[in-house]
Amino acid sequence: MLKIRSAELKHDDYIGKYVSIKGWIHRIRKQKENTFLLIRDDRGDIIQCIIDSSKTNNLTIESSIEIFGIVQKDPRAPEGGYELKANEINIFSISKNDYPIGEYQSLDLLLDKRHLAIRTRRMTMVSKIRSSVLHFSRKWFTDNDWIEVTAPIIVKGSVEGGSTLFPIKYFDENAYLSQSAQLYLEAMIFSLGPVWSITPSFRAEKSRTVRHLTEFLHLEAEAPWVSLDDLITIQEELVSYLIQNILKKNKKEFDFLKRNVSELEKISPPFDKITYEKAIDKLRNEGLTIIDRESSRLIEYGDDLSIESERLLTLNSSKPLFVIGYPLKIKPFYVKEEPSKEGVGLAADLLAPNGFGEITSGGIREDDLQKLEKRMVLEGLQKSNYEWYLDLRRYGSVPHGGFGLGIERLMRWILNLIDIKDTLPFPRTLRRIYP
Ligand code: 4AD
Repeated sequence: MLKIRSAELKHDDYIGKYVSIKGWIHRIRKQKENTFLLIRDDRGDIIQCIIDSSKTNNLTIESSIEIFGIVQKDPRAPEGGYELKANEINIFSISKNDYPIGEYQSLDLLLDKRHLAIRTRRMTMVSKIRSSVLHFSRKWFTDNDWIEVTAPIIVKGSVEGGSTLFPIKYFDENAYLSQSAQLYLEAMIFSLGPVWSITPSFRAEKSRTVRHLTEFLHLEAEAPWVSLDDLITIQEELVSYLIQNILKKNKKEFDFLKRNVSELEKISPPFDKITYEKAIDKLRNEGLTIIDRESSRLIEYGDDLSIESERLLTLNSSKPLFVIGYPLKIKPFYVKEEPSKEGVGLAADLLAPNGFGEITSGGIREDDLQKLEKRMVLEGLQKSNYEWYLDLRRYGSVPHGGFGLGIERLMRWILNLIDIKDTLPFPRTLRRIYP
């Protein structure tokens, strides 16, 4: 007898074979003589099983079972026209009769009961795509000769500004959860060349938005002797590669989620580009106002690009857009100044199309010790926590740069989801750290 998964047995080769499937009862429809069970296996695939009703008396939704039977073809069987004519059931556990997840729930309940809601087929599909994002990221970097590294999560200082730091008790010292592996990757390029990592990053984001998590998965890359143009090309190639390979591998999942992928199929280098300065002009022409000290005014040069600005910049476009050359004062201390343009940083953020907003941020790092020290003073950073980082400029400093990509931000775009919480099994936000 063959022990297999549902997806595998949906094949003419199995017709007439006696097999067993392990899984959970997804749906039950009892008739007088026969009971129709939809069994969901451990990969979320469904197979219909028909069994004598006398053998299903105590079965409930989500009971875990092994079911034995002969594979047969019936065009009425859901999900592919194959089913199991079953004759025996082994019960692992009878589920309590009040399983809280059904067809229609409030979003809050689905988050409160996330440990169960992740069994929904929708979440299974999303998680399979997430797995592919991670797999193809690793494959792209490995195939292109980048070295994978890891950086610590417990750190002494901020990378992306103090306001979003999570303080933790670390014996008798103050420490924080890492906002970005970047500074550690910068240290590693001196012995490994181009490096990359994928680590959780933490931000104490106090606002509730559909694109901010307090813990997100951060893919970061850093390399010596790269220009801003090189970094842009690397990101164009990486993002296009990820999308094209995921679309191929996860066709079934995209179909299930009813994601129209025709625009994603066209994502390829080069992406669109606009300078920060031109982006501001464009937003002013569109009349974008921002609230400033309780009065509103037109957006102007020097303002950060808000969620609304990013949305407007790509709303009617199906290509990702790089915004290049932000003013230094709205970028962190480590961004290098463009030699020919005072006050402008060698930095570029990548915005996803159709208003999805920023998915990557990167640029060239300040490699001059004095300039870096000055910027740290301006940002109010405590130098003693960064002496190790400044050593990188004292001992053989080199021009270098890198970028960070938010895995959930990328997924939100490619899955066309409104809320970033739907891209991962256990989201962490301002109001949610349970389950
Ligand atoms: O723009 P950020 O803050 O840049 C950095 O952390 C750099 N140190 C990265 C680097 O150069 N190595 O974050 C980078 C990306 C953003 O573009 C976004 O995709 C994602 O990380 N991100 C978030 N994703 C979800 N929730 C949040 N709160 C996020 N904050 C940033």
